[in-house]
Amino acid sequence: MKILIRNGTVVNDDGSRNTDVLTDGKLIEAVEPGILPPETCKIVEADGLLVIPGGIDPHTHLEMPVGAIHTADGFDSGGEAALSGGTTTIIDFVNPLRGQSYVEAYEQWMGRAQKATCNYSFHVTVTWFDDQAAEEMRYLSERGGVNSFKHFTTYRDTIMLNQEGMLQSFFHVARLGCLATVHAENDVIITHLQNDLLKKGITHPKGHVLSRPPIAEAEATNRVIALAEVAGVPVYIVHLSCAGALDAVKAAQIRGQEVYAESLCGHLLLDRSVYFNHSREIAARYVMSPPYRSREHRDALWDGIATESIQVIGSDNCTFTQEQRNLGLYDFTRIPNGSPGIEDRLRIIWDQGVRTGRLSRERFVAATSTNAAKIFNMYPRKGVIKPGSDADIVLWDPDKSHSVSAGSHRQAIDYSVFEGYEFIGSPSLTILNGQVVFENGRVNVAAGAGTFVARSPR
Ligand code: URP
Ligand code: ZN
Ligand code: ZN
Repeated sequence: MKILIRNGTVVNDDGSRNTDVLTDGKLIEAVEPGILPPETCKIVEADGLLVIPGGIDPHTHLEMPVGAIHTADGFDSGGEAALSGGTTTIIDFVNPLRGQSYVEAYEQWMGRAQKATCNYSFHVTVTWFDDQAAEEMRYLSERGGVNSFKHFTTYRDTIMLNQEGMLQSFFHVARLGCLATVHAENDVIITHLQNDLLKKGITHPKGHVLSRPPIAEAEATNRVIALAEVAGVPVYIVHLSCAGALDAVKAAQIRGQEVYAESLCGHLLLDRSVYFNHSREIAARYVMSPPYRSREHRDALWDGIATESIQVIGSDNCTFTQEQRNLGLYDFTRIPNGSPGIEDRLRIIWDQGVRTGRLSRERFVAATSTNAAKIFNMYPRKGVIKPGSDADIVLWDPDKSHSVSAGSHRQAIDYSVFEGYEFIGSPSLTILNGQVVFENGRVNVAAGAGTFVARSPR
């Protein structure tokens, strides 16, 4: 059915205006004032509300296997959480085992995503590189709708690629016309500090933050930017969390190198002191990499977003239950890494970014939707309210308050790292592919309603 949204304020990354929006059941048909209602249509009054493009979260790990366990949020529950928080599209990561066929892993992830309740796309992680890997990457870029490949400079036992492999992969990604993305932390520093801490008897989760200092991230970020320059590949640094890494990004951007940066809603909110909680159980909930940082780093990140050296804010949603976290209660290196955010990302950024005056409404839309659509080649299908674009739309109430609690959130974990926060600014209605899927505080969407978003090389 058509939907007419009346008298809202449409906010795109390049400006805002009061107008109506008409959808045709799938796409946006018209954006202009005074649209007459077609014979059969749902009318939504949007006075006082913002009409924004559905959020795009370019960093999620739904139902991701890690050894014998997997992340708690699936493509169904994770998608519902996303929709309730104003996100309509995610880009999840296919993580092949070292030596596993990339195409096989991609098909496994595609199988899990058949129950997706929000739109989805895939990055593929380069965990090994040789001629066969190169051929499979080519296949996925030409036939699989994948235009971004992730690389890890750490996790030596599982998914890290050595520098030689990374440089070769970067050259190949450049030839494919794709984007290299990187998790940048210095593995030698981290491993040394982890072993040293354990030797000293420090097993509490605080060892996690003590073993992953900002300098480890800054060094690796500098290094991958250098490799990317040599390979001539555009590079996107995922979950950038500290001032030193941001300095490396800024310096490269000033030199004219194509370097993008993503920060996470969690890194913009939470402080490293969470790791020092006396309770090991509670401290373990916050273990993610890079770890949460101190205020000076958060201030640098906000500054980077406002001045556009950081283009994108993701969640890195990667949720593990308390029971799963407890696997490493007495050895912090065994705690599964990851954090939530798929549900609260937009609220955090509105409350902490727009309401504090750090970001304009337009920058909010750019950082939570449009820039990801542009960088990952989904624009203007996604990331903008304009005729012809997909009808993924959020009605955003700038004054609606939302209290976070594990008792009421939609995510599949039994605690929340945002417990007790009250965010002002929240969605009142979400439209996915032309259908209302969240309204009056309720998500109403069928498993499989999310569609795959193929992204071609640039
Ligand atoms: O700790 C994190 N970030 N876990 C998720 C996987 C990754 O590194 O992005
Ligand atoms: Zn990562
Ligand atoms: Zn991640």
